[in-house]
Amino acid sequence: MSPTGNEAAWAWQWSHLEDDSEMLFREWIEPNRLEDFRGKAVLDAGCGGGQHLRLVAPHAAEAVGVDLSCAELAAERCRDLANVSTVAGDVAEIDLGRRFDVVYSIGVLHHTDDPQRSFENLARHVAPGGRLIVWVYSHEGNFWNRALVEPAKQLYGRWPRGLLLALAWVLTALLWLPIQTVYRLPLRGLPYWEYFANFRRLPFRRNVLNVFDKLNAPQTHFLRREDVESWFAEGFRDVHVSPYVGVSWRASGTRL
Ligand SMILES: C[S@@+](CC[C@H](N)C(=O)[O-])C[C@H]1O[C@@H](n2cnc3c(N)ncnc32)[C@H](O)[C@@H]1O
Repeated sequence: MSPTGNEAAWAWQWSHLEDDSEMLFREWIEPNRLEDFRGKAVLDAGCGGGQHLRLVAPHAAEAVGVDLSCAELAAERCRDLANVSTVAGDVAEIDLGRRFDVVYSIGVLHHTDDPQRSFENLARHVAPGGRLIVWVYSHEGNFWNRALVEPAKQLYGRWPRGLLLALAWVLTALLWLPIQTVYRLPLRGLPYWEYFANFRRLPFRRNVLNVFDKLNAPQTHFLRREDVESWFAEGFRDVHVSPYVGVSWRASGTRL
């Protein structure tokens, strides 16, 4: 694995940066609530540094995290939580040999080789009556990401991650002025208008993580609404699919 390969890139990100925003997690899983996890066995598919495991653990009976490259890091960061464990593995292939009351996957499926296949494997880990919750990037609303950021990875993809983090700080600082001025006007036609409104709700450092995450992701699939709806079309009831700040889908369903 090259130092800027898939696994190394994520391992670098989560060993250097942390996300402790409960507000964002709560919004990504809507209309499901953290309180719905009470007493349940929960799987975090693509747990990163264990940031969401820490939020879920006080509610759930048990929380298991799976990640391709960060399982050890997440275990280390959650070592004070007796009901949390982690497993290294690929969400598209792993067989944990059991089912969970809740499986959630936040910001992960679109970074896997085959998001649908990954989704189907997660669905196999949901108990009948259990809930599968995913949050993924949308094709809709992400023109500039698709047109500029993804092609630019050919240029900067092999840069040291520290340099990329410095670039993320600069870009976040450059974005700050328009976000605090022009983007405060009711000009909803401006690109990323809703998304940048969210920047104003978050600390600067958290927005740097947001920008770095976009730059750092080794591969990204941008999913159309119909893709996400088709995942839940069979084998689920009470399906919910809604846009989140114009750049992503939050989707969930109860396993039949
Ligand atoms: C953007 S981070 C999201 C982490 C966490 N879910 C969060 O929302 O903060 C994507 C994570 O997915 C993991 N990942 C990517 N592809 C994976 C795969 N095929 N199987 C398991 N984990 C994967 C990466 O290692 C990384 O930790």
